[in-house]
Amino acid sequence: MNSIFFYLNGKQVVLESPDLDLTLLQYLRNTGLTGTKLGCGEGGCGACTVMMSRYDVDLDKIVHASVNACLCPLYTVDGKHIITIEGLGTSKAPHPVQERIALLHGSQCGFCTPGFVMSLYTLLRNNPNPTELEIEECFDGNLCRCTGYRPILDAAKTFADQAWKQGSVNPDGSVSAVPKSDSGCGLDGCCRQKESGARDTAAAAPCTNGSDVCCKQKDTVVRDPTTPYTNGANACCGKAGTCCKQTAQPGSNLAEIEKAQVISQFQKYDPTQELIFPPLLLRYAKGKTIASEPQLRALEIMSKDPQAWCQRFYRPLTLDALLSILSTHPAAKLVAGNSEVGVEIKLKRTKFPVQVAVNDIAELRQITHAEEHVRFGANITLARFEHVLGELIRDHPEERTQGFRALRENLRYFAGNQIRNVATIAGNIATASPISDLNPVFMACDASVTLVSLAAGARTVRMADFFLGYRRTAMQQGEVILDVCVPFSQRGEIIKAFKQAKRKDDDIAIVTCGLRVRTDVETHRVREAAFAYGGMAPTTVLAQRASKCAVGGTWGDRALLDRMLAECQNEMRLDFTVPGGMAEYRAALTTSFLFKFWAISCHELGIGAVEAAFAHEVADDEQRVLSKGKQEYASITDRAIVGKGVAHLSALKQVTGEARYVDDMPPLQGELYMAMVMSPKPHARLVSIDSAEALELPGVCRVLTASDVPGENKWNIFHDEEILPTSEVHYVGQPVALVVAESQKIAQEAARRVRVEYEDLPAVLSVREAVRSGSLFDEVRQLKNGDVEKEFASAPVVLEGESYCGPQEHFYLETMGSVTVPKGESGEFDIYASTQNPTETQLVTAEVLGVPANRIVCHVKRMGGGFGGKESRSVLIAAFTTLCSYHTNKSVRIILDRDEDMQTSGQRHPFYGKWKVAVDKTGKLLALRMHIYSNGGFSHDLSIGVLERAVSHLDNCYRIPHTDFVGRVCRTNTQSNTAFRSFGGCQGMFLLESMLCEVADHLGLSVEHIRETNMYKLGDMTPFSQRLDDWNVPTMWRQVKQSGEFDRRRHEVDEFNRGSRYRKRGLSLVPTKFGISFGVKHLNQGMSLVHIYMDGSVLVAHGGTEMGQGLHTKMAMIAAETLELPLESIFISETATNTAANTSPTAASASSDLNGYAVYNACKALADRLRPYRERMAGEPFGKIAKTAYLDRCNLTAAGHYATPDIGFNWVKNEGLLYFYFTQGVALAEVELDTLTGAHTTRRVDIVMDVGKSLNKAIDIGQIEGAFAQGQGWTTTEEFLYFSNGRLFTQGPGNYKVPSAMDIPRDFRVSLLEGAPTSMLKTIFSSKGIGEPPLFLGASVFFALRDAVLAARKHSGGTAALHLESPATAEMLRLACEDDFVEMARIPHEQKEGRVPFAIRI
Ligand SMILES: Cc1cc2nc3c(=O)[nH]c(=O)nc-3n(C[C@H](O)[C@H](O)[C@H](O)COP(=O)(O)OP(=O)(O)OC[C@H]3O[C@@H](n4cnc5c(N)ncnc54)[C@H](O)[C@@H]3O)c2cc1C
Ligand code: FES
Ligand code: FES
Repeated sequence: MNSIFFYLNGKQVVLESPDLDLTLLQYLRNTGLTGTKLGCGEGGCGACTVMMSRYDVDLDKIVHASVNACLCPLYTVDGKHIITIEGLGTSKAPHPVQERIALLHGSQCGFCTPGFVMSLYTLLRNNPNPTELEIEECFDGNLCRCTGYRPILDAAKTFADQAWKQGSVNPDGSVSAVPKSDSGCGLDGCCRQKESGARDTAAAAPCTNGSDVCCKQKDTVVRDPTTPYTNGANACCGKAGTCCKQTAQPGSNLAEIEKAQVISQFQKYDPTQELIFPPLLLRYAKGKTIASEPQLRALEIMSKDPQAWCQRFYRPLTLDALLSILSTHPAAKLVAGNSEVGVEIKLKRTKFPVQVAVNDIAELRQITHAEEHVRFGANITLARFEHVLGELIRDHPEERTQGFRALRENLRYFAGNQIRNVATIAGNIATASPISDLNPVFMACDASVTLVSLAAGARTVRMADFFLGYRRTAMQQGEVILDVCVPFSQRGEIIKAFKQAKRKDDDIAIVTCGLRVRTDVETHRVREAAFAYGGMAPTTVLAQRASKCAVGGTWGDRALLDRMLAECQNEMRLDFTVPGGMAEYRAALTTSFLFKFWAISCHELGIGAVEAAFAHEVADDEQRVLSKGKQEYASITDRAIVGKGVAHLSALKQVTGEARYVDDMPPLQGELYMAMVMSPKPHARLVSIDSAEALELPGVCRVLTASDVPGENKWNIFHDEEILPTSEVHYVGQPVALVVAESQKIAQEAARRVRVEYEDLPAVLSVREAVRSGSLFDEVRQLKNGDVEKEFASAPVVLEGESYCGPQEHFYLETMGSVTVPKGESGEFDIYASTQNPTETQLVTAEVLGVPANRIVCHVKRMGGGFGGKESRSVLIAAFTTLCSYHTNKSVRIILDRDEDMQTSGQRHPFYGKWKVAVDKTGKLLALRMHIYSNGGFSHDLSIGVLERAVSHLDNCYRIPHTDFVGRVCRTNTQSNTAFRSFGGCQGMFLLESMLCEVADHLGLSVEHIRETNMYKLGDMTPFSQRLDDWNVPTMWRQVKQSGEFDRRRHEVDEFNRGSRYRKRGLSLVPTKFGISFGVKHLNQGMSLVHIYMDGSVLVAHGGTEMGQGLHTKMAMIAAETLELPLESIFISETATNTAANTSPTAASASSDLNGYAVYNACKALADRLRPYRERMAGEPFGKIAKTAYLDRCNLTAAGHYATPDIGFNWVKNEGLLYFYFTQGVALAEVELDTLTGAHTTRRVDIVMDVGKSLNKAIDIGQIEGAFAQGQGWTTTEEFLYFSNGRLFTQGPGNYKVPSAMDIPRDFRVSLLEGAPTSMLKTIFSSKGIGEPPLFLGASVFFALRDAVLAARKHSGGTAALHLESPATAEMLRLACEDDFVEMARIPHEQKEGRVPFAIRI
């Protein structure tokens, strides 16, 4: 049979001879279901999540599973029901999941949103009454780069089981279920609470206020006596927070009131209304369809396309059939969950001409129990495996299920739900990955596999003998894994699993292990021991000597522990250059894990060893702490619309998949696809380019090189970068030539066939190397005040040191993309691009083609995130598609693959600083000389602007009387680093704050004391000669200190650290001030064009682009407010260069200031023109008024313009106004660090932010939370690494780790400063820019971690100042703790000297 049969959103689909290379995602998007997004193509982001329902014959029930459509081969959907985002609801009639995420601000750019919706939807389909914990965990395979997750989690938790909801979140963040009647409103001081704060358990006790409404909730609102009731009854409904008669009371928290009002309007979730599982599919799966219906059969499909990578596909239904296929096709690739095979195809471009799906073979899914063991069918999914393990643990005594517990422990952190729902045990074992999570535990448990083949029948192989080398196993050709046999454990036996990854959730291991000991119950003498490690060799290995030395010894004997640790370290030592890197860290983890195991097992076996006391400290199996958030803003709103927490105007379109991004545009007839030929060399002379072989490939149209550029081949503001290189390449990944073909697949294949000859030239990669070799761009930026040298000569303390912060990848969920459509006449082209900079896109492409700018229109509907990454580098991509379109006269598209994007699009600049500082003994700063260097990459791009901002933020919030700040940009052979939210500001502040920490260490003072001592006062002058007016940082510092109970918690943290040896807590209070304005004077202008149509609807165009930050929403609010119209009357369609010309990029946090005023000016002009009509026609609908005005020949169109007054700074003279104002904030972070692994949890964060008079408070809170998460990622998990040959190591979500939902603060409190002076603020409605300023506050987590490391070092006797660079990854933190384990793992200096580590920071 060569067709597949399935259901898609309730409709039957039969595909004859389907394309065997297609993934489900490609199929969906090709058929116009573009709501499901492509974020990475490797299972790492969840943007492509869909729900796959099937009837499970083993369980006799319908199972719903979230899956990654990008890793799901289309051929595997036979017999399934696929539900995509389009199958749920529409923006007019959204599904409750969609509605709640949209209206509770869970969608910013919206690119990740369909994936989140589908994950939650799937959870609800399986369990309509989930707990909050289950809800948090359902998102473990979804990434969001915009929101900081909190609003998504909040929205999702409205579905949580009521019993849990009414239960309270305990101080430690865990949840206890409390019967509803006992719970009160949950607010502090509720009448249902006893004085102690405990709930009044007298369930029947009525609220003391005599109504069913909590007295405390009532306090937060007042009834509005003047407005009529909207509920139809002439009485108040009494629903606190949601009643139509309530208005916000001054001083109350509007955030909570708005939230309650929104929640009260939600549709009820009714699971009975969901799409049913089609009865035909049920009969199909059971093999009970009638003759006229599709029959469940073995599939054998041949490809019709001779170029297809997969030529032949089988889906056998029995083991015999499988073995027989293998005997005919010994090289056939078995495919189960495709989570390994799919990645190999996608990233390594491996071709498997014959593929065999094994999921529908019942024999491979059997689970059988015996007295001594359990056999798990090889191809049960990991989700099923986890579930069965849970049942075994429930049904058998703890001592018998040690192995099962360890396996389940590791599965908890194995990938995300979408992967676990499809990936299988055999897939993990057969891959034999050295970092497999399951294999070490299987090995430690002494598990075995059964292998079967047609030729040799069945045989059993112990796990210990199964792995032969890197991805090599004992399996013979033609053999398959039938099952895995795991023995029950015995009394006196303990088995544990440990895993350390770069990120806790959804990440592959750095080191993982399964550790087992079997002891005599009476004597504790060790009978057996097996310590199996992953991540320490080319394959899973046993620490033979360490295991052996344990046997015969007494478990609990400290001397035995020391011997084991020493043996383990001797065996598990890695070379400095080891693949994967982190040699010392990995070695230290092996002993740290062994020590953990020792402590926990001693405790569990009742051995009174000293270490047993540490069991609770070193255990990693505590109940996961739930996250919670609180947002606060006061109810002061001066205006009808502006200032309210209106949801993002596209949110409902985003949650339903209706929102269109560039790649969602349907292809035009004859459209072509473009691919890039990328340089493999960091620096080389281009000798020749030969495209003959590529052009031979059917479907290839053109290969374009520099000589095909008809106009200007140079671009960027310094004109130092070629569109396509003529003679030299400057970084690995640089596009050398472009291939245009009929499809993406052909274009990419052809690009690999273009032969380019290079002649190597010397390359420089890192900033330090560039400083050493003098590889610098010419420009210097300096801010000099006073006389630092004189101060250095006389100061009581003078210190010198270095600071460094690494790069950061934007990781917008939507990669760069562009579609160019030729108009076919007059050299006109329409460009649809994902860019923050339509004007530069227009101008550069016009120059490249040699046509006037008036022939090119750049359109931007929205972006799936930008964060600065699409400010300049996106221009090149649009220039490419336009060049290809010019030569082919066809529409041309490219959407970069994630790895292409990360290799070419530039990152946040790494910065390196050398400092010399003079202080007095009290910590008062006297003078500072700071020379800073950024890694600019191969061209200028925006590096000088970034440098200027870094230099001008080196003061952060402190007065330093004498300064000499000097900044330079290094020229290196990496991609050109570029704008990234905060644009050098956060780097400057980080270098300074990191220096302050070292100063504090030297002086023996707390860094908070130093911050306080030196904090600017109102009216102080900055090093760039700007007076600080409206200076609110000291106020917020006091507020956060007080509301965050800094002093009490400092004491608590210190107490905790005194009592805890291996877990340390840290606290950090950090301020920020961020200057708002473009550094380039002429960019400080905005424009708008507003049309009022005859029906009264209003179309607004302005110069800013929408990338999720809610700019269009704010602009529409300003227009509605100014025109005195409801928000619904205003529409913003897109940003385009033919409606808003000569625009500035949407950047610098200034777009709402600039374009907002421009919109206001246009609307004000229109409002003035319409005033006479409105007065005359009072009470008439606005449409009628507009029509009358039109008939009266009143111009209903107005253009608005705004230029920031007074701005302009002269760097040479240190004169003029650099920033129009400062957005300010303060954050307090608390963390807990596992000093044995370097893993951490952010326990709590409090932020107060001064955003002036916010245009939209909910959106501003969203910006704060999202920026904070990015700053946290930048300084902790996001390590961007290169190989020493200049190739990028971190090319995707597989090894570049942005924060996940589980990384955000467990308790996240954000409030807006209210009522602060804004006398000097001359912005639109006295608002402040907010996109970038909060980012630096994310570094408070870094500084809290530093504080925790200091406590750990103190415990080990270390007192030296701590030098810690950013990002403080688990590796860096673990090594910084400097204990005996680290000392044992150290590689002697001579073994490192002159040798190149696996990967380097640049
Ligand atoms: C985003 C992501 C996250 C991941 N996270 C983790 C992680 O945290 N820990 C971890 O260990 N791994 C992780 N992996 C790797 C992968 O998910 C696992 O190895 C998984 O168990 C593979 O199972 P599969 O069914 O998808 O295998 P497939 O990709 O279908 O197959 C893998 C290999 O197994 C072979 N095979 C399958 N069934 C049989 C059989 N019955 N007999 C013989 N050979 C067979 C196939 O031929 C193939 O060679 C991750 C992968 C991705 C994409
Ligand atoms: S696109 Fe599928 S997981 Fe990222
Ligand atoms: S809203 Fe999640 S990535 Fe933009």
